[in-house]
Amino acid sequence: MAAINLPRVIRIGGGALKELPGALAQCGLSRPFVVTDGFLAKSGMVARLVAVLEAAGLSAQVFDGTVPDPTVAVIEAALAALSDSGCDCVIGFGGGSPIDTAKAIAALALDPRPVQTMKAPAVTDVPGLPIIAVPTTAGTGSEATRFTIVTDEATSEKMLCAGLAFLPTIAIVDFELTMAKPARLTADTGIDSLTHAIEAYVSRRANAFSDAMALSAMKLIAPNIRTACAEPGNRLAREAMMVGAHHAGIAFSNASVALVHGMSRPIGAFFHVPHGLSNAMLLPAVTAFSAPSALARYADCARAMGVAGESEGDQAAVARLLDELRGLNTDLAVPTPRAHGIAEAEWSRLVPEMARQAIASGSPANNPRLADAGEIERLYAGVFG
Ligand SMILES: NC(=O)c1ccc[n+]([C@@H]2O[C@H](COP(=O)([O-])OP(=O)(O)OC[C@H]3O[C@@H](n4cnc5c(N)ncnc54)[C@H](O)[C@@H]3O)[C@@H](O)[C@H]2O)c1
Ligand SMILES: [Fe+2]
Repeated sequence: MAAINLPRVIRIGGGALKELPGALAQCGLSRPFVVTDGFLAKSGMVARLVAVLEAAGLSAQVFDGTVPDPTVAVIEAALAALSDSGCDCVIGFGGGSPIDTAKAIAALALDPRPVQTMKAPAVTDVPGLPIIAVPTTAGTGSEATRFTIVTDEATSEKMLCAGLAFLPTIAIVDFELTMAKPARLTADTGIDSLTHAIEAYVSRRANAFSDAMALSAMKLIAPNIRTACAEPGNRLAREAMMVGAHHAGIAFSNASVALVHGMSRPIGAFFHVPHGLSNAMLLPAVTAFSAPSALARYADCARAMGVAGESEGDQAAVARLLDELRGLNTDLAVPTPRAHGIAEAEWSRLVPEMARQAIASGSPANNPRLADAGEIERLYAGVFG
């Protein structure tokens, strides 16, 4: 049996931002608290959002103090601002970081307690304030997921928090908000969503619904990711990436991610590597490790991505998938951890702790090939470069 969960309202397409007031009205909401980051506030994008709300007679309070990979301190500051605001819902506007911040404070607003108590394996299902997610990156799919990720700066751990309390009530998916993303961000966030789609498809918790969304995501993302990076103004490529990221989010929210994400979060927590980039550093090696245990599933990924023919055998298709993932990293200039500037001694020192955190997050248990701590440590050593 599969249990499927989705946002109640999804408005998707170019210009969907203008639908936000109507979607709020449908849900009986009128006093939004907007969570965003400093860059988006300065860039004029938040002003676009506020103007849409004001045109509908809604005034919003804005908290623009979140940061990439939001921390417990940021959650506490945002929560303090929300508590005094009298707002009836929380809008996360930005990439995964503002959306995840919005999710955490929406849950805690009605159930105040330390953020750490929500860390997996805890499950937080009871809804807090309604969450509205408006992504400005084509990447995390967080607008459609029942997850939020908060970094505990005291322990350098990226805490995965799961449960229906983190599933947005409303998702506004407007690719026009991504048109100004620079190439590096487009590449990193795009690989994040490709990783979501592949991991959801090979996950031990995959089901017919998540499979359909994962395959759709791969079909949209794989042929468009290079174009979106090279031609930032290409609307068709931007739209495909945004819809692909959204479908990938729906897929993994209902099937979970696996070993790549389990190993990626500690790299982000300890070395502040952007989330999609740390996934990219791992994706070819972890796919090569995992493929023998799910050859047919990985072969389907190759075919959906358009890198293997329908009549090609599974073994050949998987070989093409590995070539494509390595080629994508070359074309998108993904560095190894060494080339990214991480000191080898520090990497080696932290590998055992990173492996421990990876396993504790639970994600590696969904991988088609289960990896013990020693194998995870060897994978970390192997990708260092
Ligand atoms: N909740 C989930 O289901 C889920 C899934 C995957 C990842 N995540 C988390 O999401 C976070 C990463 O999110 P992200 O990759 O979207 O990046 P992000 O939100 O951390 O943003 C990265 C940078 O890009 C900028 N930015 C955002 N939109 C832009 C735009 N349209 N144009 C130019 N610059 C823009 C931001 O201001 C920021 O400086 C990580 O913490 C990751 O762990 C969450
Ligand atoms: Fe991710």
